[in-house]
Amino acid sequence: AAAEKGGYDYFMLKEIAEQPKAVADTLLGRIDASGSLTLDEVRISASALREVDKVVIVACGTAFHAGLIAKYAIEHWTRIPCEVELASEFRYRDPILDQQTLVIAISQSGETMDTLMALRHAREQGARVLAICNTNGSTIPRESDAVLYTHAGPEVAVASTKAFLTQLVACYLVALYLGQVRGTKWGDEIGAVIRELSRISCEVERVLETMEPVRELARSLASKNTVLFLGRHVGYPVALEGALKLKELAYMHAEGFAAGELKHGPIALIEDDLPVVVVVPSPRGRSVLHDKIVSNMQEIRARGARTIVIAEEGDEAVVPYADHLIRIPATPTLLQPLVATVPLQVFACELATARGNEVDQPRNLAKSVTVE
Ligand code: AGP
Repeated sequence: AAAEKGGYDYFMLKEIAEQPKAVADTLLGRIDASGSLTLDEVRISASALREVDKVVIVACGTAFHAGLIAKYAIEHWTRIPCEVELASEFRYRDPILDQQTLVIAISQSGETMDTLMALRHAREQGARVLAICNTNGSTIPRESDAVLYTHAGPEVAVASTKAFLTQLVACYLVALYLGQVRGTKWGDEIGAVIRELSRISCEVERVLETMEPVRELARSLASKNTVLFLGRHVGYPVALEGALKLKELAYMHAEGFAAGELKHGPIALIEDDLPVVVVVPSPRGRSVLHDKIVSNMQEIRARGARTIVIAEEGDEAVVPYADHLIRIPATPTLLQPLVATVPLQVFACELATARGNEVDQPRNLAKSVTVE
């Protein structure tokens, strides 16, 4: 078993470390020399894709968080309305679907019963289903019209890490491909994003090399009961994912909020020395959101919160309000989750270890949930 873990104490640590390769492998062969996408495996014709008037993403858990991020990319690059729904909620509310709906089912295992039932329901209504999946020949891709495989390799730890990053990559590829097939006013931006995507695995590697202070911080928080996570735009699903990892692994009360919602309720939770992780959007691009998050940090710090800030290199505006500062490389806004999630995975894994929990097999959880 030690050999299987490649010298790491846990599969989760190995899988976190494998992320640069998983990301690169998922891009491999899908971007040609001219910077165009070639997703031949997606056996849905270009004309059918041009007719799509709504995208609906269904998934559970971490895969659902990938879907939430995909929505920002799909709507921005393609202008097609996109809904994201928990697979377990989707089919029981009589959703509106027809032949022009593209349903994207995201699943690492390809065996999640809730997601499978949602896609069956979608196909019965005439919708086309594209699976994003990490397991060759599993049930979800077999029952879908087409599949885009993530090439993360087998993920053994119950807490999903490398599969999540590759789901994001696959979602970006689908969004960019839809933009390419349908024509988009974002041609130049898309070209630039494709170039950045091709380099992003090196940036993930750089993040991994700077994680020791995050591990130290995690150990120092081992006796806390609660950690909150705030984010905005694509940083909001990142906050949800950070909180989910902490619940699963450290068995702590962890909640993710949209930073803009603070004043609508959650700010009442802030008390002295409460750790709050803040995922800060890039000061370039969406600078309005950046400034708003900086004032959120001021507000919660004034009420005693201990801020753990994840911010782009060179973002100096956050420094006065950060009790702990975790730097990530600058990326285009929509791609930031690929680098911002990594410290949260490391944080949760180290906290779980410090609390003496079983990292790869958290209590009460199964790797793949094959019952509804
Ligand atoms: C993530 O860490 C989970 N253990 C869990 O939320 C998982 O993402 C979810 O059950 C969906 O699994 P799937 O991707 O295999 O469908």
